[in-house]
Amino acid sequence: MQGKRIVLGIGGGIAAYKTPSLVRQLVAAGMDVIPVLTESAHHFVTATVLTTLSGNRVRADLWDLDAENSMGHIELARWADTLLIAPATANLLARLAHGQSDDLLTTLYLATTAPTIVAPAMNVEMWNHTATKRNIGALKTDGVHVIGPEHGEQACGEIGLGRMLEPEDIVSQLLATTGPISASMEGIRVLVTAGPTRESIDPVRYITNASSGKQGYAIAEAARDAGAVVRLVSGPVALPSPRGVQQIPVTTAAEMKAAVLDLAGDIDIMFGVAAVADYRPIRSEPHKIKKTQQNGPSISMDLVENDDILASVAALPDPPYLVGFAAETQNPIKNAVHKRERKCLDAIVVNDVSDRSIGFDSDENEVTLLHADGETTFDRSTKAQIANKLVSAISALYAKKRT
Ligand code: C5P
Repeated sequence: MQGKRIVLGIGGGIAAYKTPSLVRQLVAAGMDVIPVLTESAHHFVTATVLTTLSGNRVRADLWDLDAENSMGHIELARWADTLLIAPATANLLARLAHGQSDDLLTTLYLATTAPTIVAPAMNVEMWNHTATKRNIGALKTDGVHVIGPEHGEQACGEIGLGRMLEPEDIVSQLLATTGPISASMEGIRVLVTAGPTRESIDPVRYITNASSGKQGYAIAEAARDAGAVVRLVSGPVALPSPRGVQQIPVTTAAEMKAAVLDLAGDIDIMFGVAAVADYRPIRSEPHKIKKTQQNGPSISMDLVENDDILASVAALPDPPYLVGFAAETQNPIKNAVHKRERKCLDAIVVNDVSDRSIGFDSDENEVTLLHADGETTFDRSTKAQIANKLVSAISALYAKKRT
C-alpha cells in the first residue's frame, strides 16, 4: 500500500532518544518502518531497541555487505513511500542541502523519489544561524517538507526554538503531508493542469493572472502519494518540480490545450486546476510596442476568446473523469453549479477568492466539492491537506462511477 513504508532516518542529536517512541507510534498507525541511523545517532539510541520495536533490522552502514545483499541501498530507496528524518541535526541538514552522499542516509535521500520530511532538532542558536536558515531554505526549494522545530526548554538548558516535534505530532504531520495511508489511486492515470497561462502582447509583455500553481502542484503530489501515475501540465510558476511526477511545461492557453489533448486519451482522471486565460490578444506584435505621440494618451487592444480546455476534453468520445476548479468572487456555489453543467464536468471544486487569505497565492484554502450526488465543504487548511482530502474524495467518486 502507498504511504505505508517509511524509511526513518535518525540523526545524532539528543532528540534521538524519542525515536523508539516514534517508531512505536508509526507502527501502531499501520506503517512498516525501517530505521536508518547516522554514525553519530548510535551515541543516543541503540540499534537493538529500534530493531525490536520496528520488527525490521536497522540499517546504518553503506558498506555493510550482508545488509546490502538482502536489500541494496537503491532497493531501499525505491521501497520507501516516505523518507522521514527525525531528528534532523544542523550537520545532517547541511549535508542534505548540499546533496552530499557520504553515508547511507544521505545516499538514500538522493536516490529516493519518495517525499522527504525532516523534523529538525538543535540548540536555539544553531537553529537561528544564517547557515542553517540557508540550508532549510534550500531544502524547502528542493521540495522537502520541514516540520517543526517547536519552542520550549532544550536539553542544553536554553529556552527557544529548536526542540524536535513530539512523536505524536510527527505522526499526525506525516499523515497530513503524505495523505491517507490506503492506496486510493494505485495505478490510476491522473492529469493535472496548474498555474496561470501567459498570453503574449509583444515580445516583452503579456496578459496573465495571479495563480501561483500551489493548489495544482499539491494535488499532483497528493495523487502521486496515493499511488497514481501523475502528469502535470504547468503554466509558468515559481515552484519546484514535484518528485516522481512527469511535468510538461507550457506558456499559453493554446499550448496547454495541445499538451492536454495529446495526453487525454491515456488518462483516467483529469484535475483542471490551471487558471487558464479566457482571452488572448488577437495578435502578438512581433516588435515591442512603442510609446509614441501618435498613439495618444490611451491605446486599445483587441482580444479573442481562448478555447475552453476542459470543454474540449469533455467533448472527446471517451473522456476521463473530469474535475474543474472555479475561483469565484460572487455567489460561488450558484456559479459553480452552472459551470459544472455548462462544461459537462463530473465534479467541480469552488473557492471564494474574494477572501484574500485563501486561494490564489496564499498557502491555505477552503473549498467546496460539488458533484452529481451532492456537495462537501473542506474547511480551511493548508493546500496540501485540501489536496489530500480532494484526492480521497475524487478517487471514491471515480470508483463509484466506474462500477
Ligand atoms: O470558466 P472558468 O475559467 O471560471 O472555469 C475554470 C475551470 O475551467 C478551471 O478548471 C480551468 O482550468 C478550466 N478552464 C479551461 N479552459 C479555459 C478556461 C478555464 O479548461 N480556457
